[in-house]
Amino acid sequence: MAARRFISPLWSCLAFTLAFGLSTLVLPVTTVQAEAGNAERGKLIYARRCALCHGEEGDGAGPGAERLNPPPRDFTEGQYKFKTTGFDDIVPNDADLFRMIRDGMPGTAMPGWGDMLSDQDIRDVIAFIKTFAGLEEEKPTIQVDYGRQVPSSPESIAKGRALFHEGDRCAECHGAEGRGDAIKKLKDDGGARTWPRNLTKPWTFRASNDPKDIFTRITVGIPGTQMPSFADPKSKKRLTIEERWHVANYVASLAKTDKVPRPENTVVKVMKVEGALPTAPDDPAWEKLPSTTFLLLPQLIAKTRFFTPSNDTITVRAAYNDTALAILLEWDDRTRSIPGDPKAEEIADPGMGEDMVAIQFPVAVPKGMKKPYFGMGDGAHPVNLWQWRSGTADKPQSVALANARGFARIESRDPASAGLTARGRYDKGRWRVVFTRPLAASSPDKDITFQTGQFIPIAFAAWDGSNGETGSKHTMTTWYWFLLEPDTGLRPLVSALIVAFLFGAAELWWARSAGARKPEGEA
Ligand code: HEC
Ligand code: HEC
Repeated sequence: MAARRFISPLWSCLAFTLAFGLSTLVLPVTTVQAEAGNAERGKLIYARRCALCHGEEGDGAGPGAERLNPPPRDFTEGQYKFKTTGFDDIVPNDADLFRMIRDGMPGTAMPGWGDMLSDQDIRDVIAFIKTFAGLEEEKPTIQVDYGRQVPSSPESIAKGRALFHEGDRCAECHGAEGRGDAIKKLKDDGGARTWPRNLTKPWTFRASNDPKDIFTRITVGIPGTQMPSFADPKSKKRLTIEERWHVANYVASLAKTDKVPRPENTVVKVMKVEGALPTAPDDPAWEKLPSTTFLLLPQLIAKTRFFTPSNDTITVRAAYNDTALAILLEWDDRTRSIPGDPKAEEIADPGMGEDMVAIQFPVAVPKGMKKPYFGMGDGAHPVNLWQWRSGTADKPQSVALANARGFARIESRDPASAGLTARGRYDKGRWRVVFTRPLAASSPDKDITFQTGQFIPIAFAAWDGSNGETGSKHTMTTWYWFLLEPDTGLRPLVSALIVAFLFGAAELWWARSAGARKPEGEA
């Protein structure tokens, strides 16, 4: 649950701004004893807390709805996605709505209201939203049959894996490794673009990745979207109750909890290796090096801001030898964006650009633990930008080098002159890109020189070309540290690392506090 609370700072931020920015009204406090919801009272709560997104009329067309994907639910349809009633029963249980309203829906703009509204408030608002579709008198008749839960075990997971792939049952949409690398374009019933979930990132699940929740989704499907029910007897890919438990156990096992960005991880530790550096993206030597995962946030500083990023994390490994340095960047991307490639064009949003990734270093390493600037350097503090691009139908992948003194002052340079190379490989929903460069700068006034034991500021940016990410529309990290571990081998710079941790923790505080659910004014 910690992961759920931590992630989606963007969404929480956006949702809270929308939800509270315009409303300073406080609800009258009345003690309501009744268990059942009071729709009259719910109407007041709705008008103040929900109408902004879901609309006065409950049609999902509130003033805050415009940019949101997925769009706020249209309650006049009476259709709910995360319910525990049968796939053939449109009526949800009140407890299902209660949970989504209290906890929110990660990866969407729907905030959790548990800190703001009492249980009775939530029951009241549920009673009210049901009136939009005339569901107030309806009672659900068919409940999900859980049979006997199969506990997770290596055997159950192996059976689940086979069923997941059999006839491409789940892999068809969720991809061979479950990374949601769709092979076809999916729309929900309202025509909005939807993407299958990346099953390795449980923090993006609307419900949770507890096997019981996954079992429920497989049984009911996600109404209104292409995620089907596998209990429906009409389905050719139908699964028995026992089989659904195996698949649920398998899906739960896909969680990459080691890829959750943690605020205490602020340093990329660059290890000394003897002999040749790993330079191929799939060199097994990378697996032996420590990895650090950072949070990618949408670029909101320069013009053309954007709010619908598709990537949320990037994982970094690095090594050096006597002369050079290699950095491996790894991030999930559901689409391989190659402009001009008919298959890529079919899945991409209009105006596809290349997939790209960039590393930023200051040209001169600042003294002490100072970082150059949040954005792309400034007049007095130029930065090096190393950028890799995935290529187009007519042009192979490429590397670019530039120096920047702020967003508007970017000078392109020849990467070969600095000895900079980059090579990427896409496989099953994931890019891996390796950058290499000599440790010494070929022009010291223009390029960074890498020395051991120095805390060097580093930042990253990524573009998903199929998601309309080009130019200043992209995701990025804040500044972190890059440290070439001295060759004393086993003795890490303990005290220096503690200092780095303290600095980093303070800096990440804003990202965390944006992600926390407690609204302003709460103890
Ligand atoms: C900032 C915008 C925003 C606000 C404010 C908001 N919602 Fe939502 N809500 C959404 C979005 C977006 C979705 C759709 C998520 C999806 O389809 O995955 C949603 C979905 C829902 C759902 C559907 C759950 C399901 O399983 O299908 C319910 C119920 C709901 N909201 C209730 C509320 C209530 C009650 C309030 C006020 C207390 C509220 N929302 C306020 C954005 C908002
Ligand atoms: C035809 C495409 C398709 C197939 C086949 C499919 N899914 Fe999905 N799945 C989706 C889509 C689309 C979503 C996201 C729906 C939304 O917008 O919330 C999704 C979401 C999910 C979620 C997320 C639940 C949550 O709480 O957020 C899980 C888990 C899941 N699918 C598991 C499976 C499993 C297991 C199978 C095979 C038994 C499967 N899916 C087959 C399209 C598919």
